Amino acid sequence: MIRVGVVGASGFMGGELVRLLLGHPYVQLTSVAGGSSAGKTLASIRPGFLGVRDLVIDSADPELLAGKCDLVFLALPHGESAVLAAQLLNRGVKVIDLGSDFRLKNPADVEKYYGRPAVHAELLDEAFYSLPELTGAVPEGTRLLASPGCFATGLNLVLALCDGLVESVDLFGITGSTGSGITPSAGVHHSLRSTNFVAYKALNHQHEGEVRQFLSGRGAGIDFRFVPHSAPLTRGIHLTTIARTPASALKARWETLYGGKPMMIRYDAPVALGSVVGTNLVAMGMVEQGDSTAITCAFDNLLKGGSGQAIQSMNLWLGFPETAGLPMIAAWP
Ligand SMILES: NC(=O)c1ccc[n+]([C@@H]2O[C@H](COP(=O)([O-])OP(=O)(O)OC[C@H]3O[C@@H](n4cnc5c(N)ncnc54)[C@H](OP(=O)(O)O)[C@@H]3O)[C@@H](O)[C@H]2O)c1
Repeated sequence: MIRVGVVGASGFMGGELVRLLLGHPYVQLTSVAGGSSAGKTLASIRPGFLGVRDLVIDSADPELLAGKCDLVFLALPHGESAVLAAQLLNRGVKVIDLGSDFRLKNPADVEKYYGRPAVHAELLDEAFYSLPELTGAVPEGTRLLASPGCFATGLNLVLALCDGLVESVDLFGITGSTGSGITPSAGVHHSLRSTNFVAYKALNHQHEGEVRQFLSGRGAGIDFRFVPHSAPLTRGIHLTTIARTPASALKARWETLYGGKPMMIRYDAPVALGSVVGTNLVAMGMVEQGDSTAITCAFDNLLKGGSGQAIQSMNLWLGFPETAGLPMIAAWP
């Protein structure tokens, strides 16, 4: 059994990691760790654990974690992962970072998209950016995985599909409030969000950096513009784009890229968030009219956009079945 730990267990992403890893057939969860929550029980923060699992949150001490874990998931705010990741790697522990600290290769891009200097810039090149459907097997000798951002996951999957068929697309994204993490703010205040719908970071979302880097690394020529919106939803991401190309061409491309991939489902209709929330699936729908195809894409930001995808990557990395421990059927309603 591989011994795994989760740092940031009190947060939305870390909590989902804990929930899934406790049910994973090939790993043993040996530490849940955090910052200000250290010493508390996870059940005091996440009611779902109450009376089921009495996990006490460890401090995020590298020595303690290295003694308990072979692999550690870091689910920490931007800029908080790099130092701990380096300390864990130095102690022989594998690391999967769900934050942005190792997604970009060029330190100048970290400054550009996150407005802060890269910490442990020497690790940027080493980190393997893992989007399982498009990056496949994790290379031998990898020590550090960078998991894509939630919007970036959908953008990469849709843009890779369209690449070579159209020169450029505009995409419109919608996200739920859990995308902003557990700390309350005006943007996620229920009273303010539940009756509102608003675009933000128009043409300037920070995930553009990793998407442009990823596409150019694949030799893709497609350009894109992206406007995200914040919706009165708790979880889920929905993307829409219109590609000036027949659906038949996109469907043929789909078969090459995603045919047989366990998380990818194609519909000949617009997709609903409700069909994927609570799962690690990506639903993509294609509807043709005239010379154009409307592509819609939906997935759960906390699962396929974060914790589930990181576990999917771990499964590939450690040689487990790709779907092990991952929910594949949505709760409804
Ligand atoms: N939410 C999403 O949809 C999503 C999707 C993909 C990727 N991500 C990325 O995943 C990461 C976590 O996101 P999230 O939404 O789970 O955030 P979150 O809900 O704010 O949780 C972050 C947790 O990190 C802990 N923490 C903060 N600083 C720490 C430190 N120095 N040492 C130890 N623990 C510390 C906090 O726990 P304490 O209370 O113990 O301090 C907090 O609960 C972020 O980088 C985010 O960008 C999020």
